[in-house]
Formats: sequence, structure tokens, C-alpha cells
Amino acid sequence: MSQLRIPGMVDAHVHLREPGATHKEDIYSGTVAALAGGVIGVLDMPNNTPPIVRPDRLAAKRKLFEEKAVADYGLFAGSDGTSLEDVIAMAPHAVGLKLYLDETFGDLRNYEPAHLAALFEAWPGPGRIAIHGESDSIRAAISLAERYGQRLHVCHVPDPDDLLVIDAARQRGVDVSCEVTPHHLLLSDEAILRLGSLAQMKPPLVTERKRALFWERLDLVDLIATDHAPHTLEEKAGKKPPPGVPGLETTLPLLLAAVDDGRLVLERLMELVYYGPLRIHQLRAPDDTEVTIDLDEGRYTLERGGYRTRCGWSPFEGVAALGRIARVRLRQCDVFVDGQVRAEAGSGAPLARAG
Ligand code: NCD
Ligand code: ZN
Repeated sequence: MSQLRIPGMVDAHVHLREPGATHKEDIYSGTVAALAGGVIGVLDMPNNTPPIVRPDRLAAKRKLFEEKAVADYGLFAGSDGTSLEDVIAMAPHAVGLKLYLDETFGDLRNYEPAHLAALFEAWPGPGRIAIHGESDSIRAAISLAERYGQRLHVCHVPDPDDLLVIDAARQRGVDVSCEVTPHHLLLSDEAILRLGSLAQMKPPLVTERKRALFWERLDLVDLIATDHAPHTLEEKAGKKPPPGVPGLETTLPLLLAAVDDGRLVLERLMELVYYGPLRIHQLRAPDDTEVTIDLDEGRYTLERGGYRTRCGWSPFEGVAALGRIARVRLRQCDVFVDGQVRAEAGSGAPLARAG
């Protein structure tokens, strides 16, 4: 029997939809999907309904995670561009501050320039300011981070040329990290013709040539995060389909196929999905944690359906994958064994801060 044992994946960018949109996903279904994908920890985004822009909302969401999560977690704070005090009050309890500088799913966006600068000036950390933004916004955020000495994280880099801008900022001494998604590495705009709205997300898929450049420039990337953004098939089939695709269950098998293809070595994969996310977000690896992956089946292609995520589908239908998650051990407990969840709701724990 051929097996691979790794420490697991820590997914630094997910949307588990609770509170507010539990018909798409909830904390239990989302963290079950995480375990089924070999993901032992998730960092959840604040674009809930209502958005997580006040300390009472962050505390209420934390309580829901305490009751329901079966994987470990951290929560991002958000801002709706109004109260600076509320944002500062959330800082000690959040893994970072997520700012939406361009249009996407949810209501958090378009801050007044003066308020945005004030956020960069006032954010006390210890977490990073993480941004959702197109190329112009990335440049603007880098300037603000440089001016105020802030530590910046660029979520789902939209274009491989942005990696060069980020790298140039690092050369100047700006502390800026970044992530790319599995869909920007493995799908291109061709998938939009094939899958229609199921392949629509923010930032959008890029051309085949740009997709290849993401791989060529992967050395400039700190981590791979799924941006797991479930929406139902009905919503995706509607008149105004919301952007976003699920990814928790497919990322490790997809990237193991990339290792098998010789595009990536296993050590670098672990850096991108585990050590990198922990280091960038200053989190401690949970003790006695291990994911066992069964390799006996060899390569296979992913299906459109049959997933644990409540939305039930994947945009990676037909894409090559390798390995089935056989067992997840989290802090000494076997929480997922042969397709069965063994963990009690609420057994997930907050990812502890490093240092
Ligand atoms: C995300 C969502 O649906 O919450 N959608 C997406 O297309 N990525 C929001 C986001 O991360 O931009
Ligand atoms: Zn996102």
C-alpha cells in the first residue's frame, strides 16, 4: 500500500458562509469539506451577512466556530469604511484585517481614500492587512503599506505581472506577502467557455499564457490558498451569478498531480500549502497532526459532483488529480478516517499565534 504522510494543508482563504448564507455552506459542512480535503486549518473571510466589521459580530462568529467547527480556524476582521475604532477593537481577536478594494461578492468595498489611509495608519496588528484588489489597487495598497510600515498580504493575485510588482516592493523592504489560488494555476479562461458561470470568480481566470506565467513565477508566491467560495448550482445558473468557486476538497489532490507531473517538488508544495500560510499569518502548527494520503489508485480525473461542501460541485471536473485523503489526525485525534468524520462538532480549535 502506497501512502504519503504530510502535516496537512492550512488554507488561508475560505468563505464558510456562516452567519448569513448557510444554504451555500456552514461552519460544520465547510470544515468537514476541509478535513475531506486534508485541510486541518482554515482562515475565514469577513464578507458574511452581516459583515464582520464590529467586535460583537466577530465574537458571535467565533462562538459559532467554537460550537461547530471540526477543523482548526482563524477569523479575519473586515471593515465597511465607517468606524476605525471597531476595526482596532477587533485586532487582538482576528488573524488579520481583510479589505476589499474592488468589487466582489458581498458589500464590503470602495473605501474613501482618506479612510483607507487611516486604516493603514491605525491597524495595530499583530495580523496582516490582507487585500482583495485588482492591479491598480495592489499598487495603491503597497504604497500605503510602505508609508505606514504596515505588513501587507495580497490575496489571490489576479495577474502574474502583479507578482513582479510585489517582488519589486519586497526589494525596497516592504513586508508584502501574497497568495495564488489553485484555479488560477490550473484553469484558464478556456474554462469559461466550457463551464459558463461555474468558472466565474473574482479575480477572473486568465489566459493560458498568463496561467503558464503563474507557474514560471511561483518562486515569488508565499502560499496557495483555495479562496473556497461556495455558491449553489441554482445561484450559479441564475441571471446574475455570484462569483466564486469551491476548492477545499480538490486542492491537495490537484497539486499532488502537479508534483507527479514534475511541475513542483513535494517540499515546495508543503511550503506553499502549510509552512507558508503558518509563517505569513504567524500561526503555530497544531501538535500531533498528520494527513495520510492513499496513492494506490494512481492518477484520476475529478468529478463535477460528489463533494462534502454544501454547494456540492467543483469547477475542476476532468482535471487530473492524485491521492485520496485516507486519514486526518488533528491534535492527537483521528478526526477523519476512510471518508467518515469522527470529530464532534466544536472539536476544532482556534489556530494559536506563533511566538
Ligand atoms: C468570493 C465570495 O463569493 O465570497 N468570491 C470570489 O469570486 N472569490 C469573494 C472574494 O473572495 O472575492
Ligand atoms: Zn475570497
